[in-house]
Amino acid sequence: MTKQILVLLGHPDCRPERFGSALASAYVEAARAAGHEVRRIDLADLDTPFLGGQWEFESPPPPPIQAVQQDILWAQHIVVLFPLWLGATPAKLKALLEQVFRAGFGMAESPRGPVPQLKGRSARLVVTMGMPAIAFWLMFGAHGLLALEKGILGLAGLSPIRKSVIGGVEAIGGQGRLKWLARMRRLGTLGI
Ligand SMILES: Cc1cc2nc3c(=O)[nH]c(=O)nc-3n(C[C@H](O)[C@H](O)[C@H](O)COP(=O)(O)O)c2cc1C
Repeated sequence: MTKQILVLLGHPDCRPERFGSALASAYVEAARAAGHEVRRIDLADLDTPFLGGQWEFESPPPPPIQAVQQDILWAQHIVVLFPLWLGATPAKLKALLEQVFRAGFGMAESPRGPVPQLKGRSARLVVTMGMPAIAFWLMFGAHGLLALEKGILGLAGLSPIRKSVIGGVEAIGGQGRLKWLARMRRLGTLGI
């Protein structure tokens, strides 16, 4: 079964020499070749102002961000790729998410807490980092990843949220990178 897939490269630097860019391209090309419909957003191309406060969070975002919202609503599966920067998502990606989830998009307010608005969609988070993946899990509790998984996408109702943690990117060498690119192509083909 083919899917509508949104791929968000959440890297402030989308130059092709960055590994994140190659991973995103591998996924997108394989998914398209397998017949999935794919839209790609490069964070580096977006103007994402920092949110000024709650007053702004309660009003709709500017048109370029509304276009991102439409892509999210269109998608059945969302893939977010990002590098770990200082233990978390790059600030520009967090800024985009704060803009996207304005005015109840993704989570509506109710007296009993947030009501998920994006149910029926699945996600994959792909994070690259300098440290070994095992250190990220055991020493840091993968908090930079879990904040996005549980604190944002999970609250919005996306499920399942699968994860690819790519550690030691500067150390794994050409062979290691080729293996991850092949894995991204497999995932893209399957649309998961
Ligand atoms: C500003 C900055 C902060 C970083 N912080 C971390 C970090 O906290 N932990 C870590 O393991 N790697 C860290 N790194 C390494 C990056 O995660 C790594 O270079 C990146 O994932 C490689 O992917 P890319 O080629 O797509 O940029 C940092 C790199 C930069 C530029």
